Amino acid sequence: MSLTGKTIAIIGGKTGLLGQALCRTFSQAGAHPLALSSADCDILNPKSVERILNRKDPDILINAAAYTQVDQAEDEAEKAFALNATAPPLLAALAAQRSIPFVHYSTDFVFRGDKTAPYTEYDPTTPFSVYGISKADGERGLLKLGYEHTLIIRISWLFGPDRMNFVEKILTLCDTHDSLTVVDDQFGSPSYAPDIASGTLNLLKKQATGVFHLANSGQTSWHGLASMAATLADKKCTVTPVPSSDYPTKAVRPHYSVLDLSKYTRTTGLTPRLWEDALKDYIHNQLHLGTDTV
Ligand SMILES: NC(=O)c1ccc[n+]([C@@H]2O[C@H](COP(=O)([O-])OP(=O)(O)OC[C@H]3O[C@@H](n4cnc5c(N)ncnc54)[C@H](OP(=O)(O)O)[C@@H]3O)[C@@H](O)[C@H]2O)c1
Repeated sequence: MSLTGKTIAIIGGKTGLLGQALCRTFSQAGAHPLALSSADCDILNPKSVERILNRKDPDILINAAAYTQVDQAEDEAEKAFALNATAPPLLAALAAQRSIPFVHYSTDFVFRGDKTAPYTEYDPTTPFSVYGISKADGERGLLKLGYEHTLIIRISWLFGPDRMNFVEKILTLCDTHDSLTVVDDQFGSPSYAPDIASGTLNLLKKQATGVFHLANSGQTSWHGLASMAATLADKKCTVTPVPSSDYPTKAVRPHYSVLDLSKYTRTTGLTPRLWEDALKDYIHNQLHLGTDTV
């Protein structure tokens, strides 16, 4: 399917980390992204979404909005479930009424983390944080609805331009600290937002539906990601590995949530670039930090 000239409604497109990357990528591909904020349409109020869809008549509806504060969700379960579990099937139903594709994002935190090999789309979801449970419920609600043009893309450890994220936080802390400690016993797949956006485009071109895993290739720990970021940005700060037990958080995170990307590769014929290459691109070309900058 060609996306040239198509109108793509992107909820979360005005302020979200992924939403803004989607808008840029779709625009560069010749489509017309319609960036939507919660003021334009509130996913907790389907009538407001319906009004926008009636007015703009998009060809595709993308939901890049969510409750994403993983620790805060432990105290705000009701809000997390409303946004992550209740809203997505209502959005998919609106897309179904109009016979347009619906794209939704989920997370590696739907997995418990007790595997030692990458998680595939066929592994059962067994989350234990409120955030993870709410996202898994959202997925289940969408699949139960049975709308054939729904695409659910699970991503992980998102970083990129336009919104504060783990990498930028680490680099900012490096400016005011001689040393930092970062956990080295949680492993995952970093995902560069512009790469997730182009991966989404590739899946839509193939008219993919169902559940897909998408991230950059390779895996690392939070410490591995932080220390590589500090090195690439030429920061003088020492990044020391520590176990998760030294850094207790409200929400328990999986120790291992690397995503298997082979279904994406089989479907599109493409392999996402390594997370190290994406990180380098981000730090040198977006943040303009490090030795490669002129
Ligand atoms: N960040 C990660 O590390 C990560 C990892 C795995 C999966 N994911 C998933 O990837 C997707 C995108 O995450 P992200 O990090 O890009 O999110 P984000 O930067 O936190 O942005 C969330 C967006 O949700 C919108 N939103 C919140 N409440 C809304 C409402 N009631 N109605 C409409 N929009 C609302 C916000 O828009 P306003 O500012 O206009 O309110 C904001 O743009 C989510 O599904 C998330 O679960 C993220």
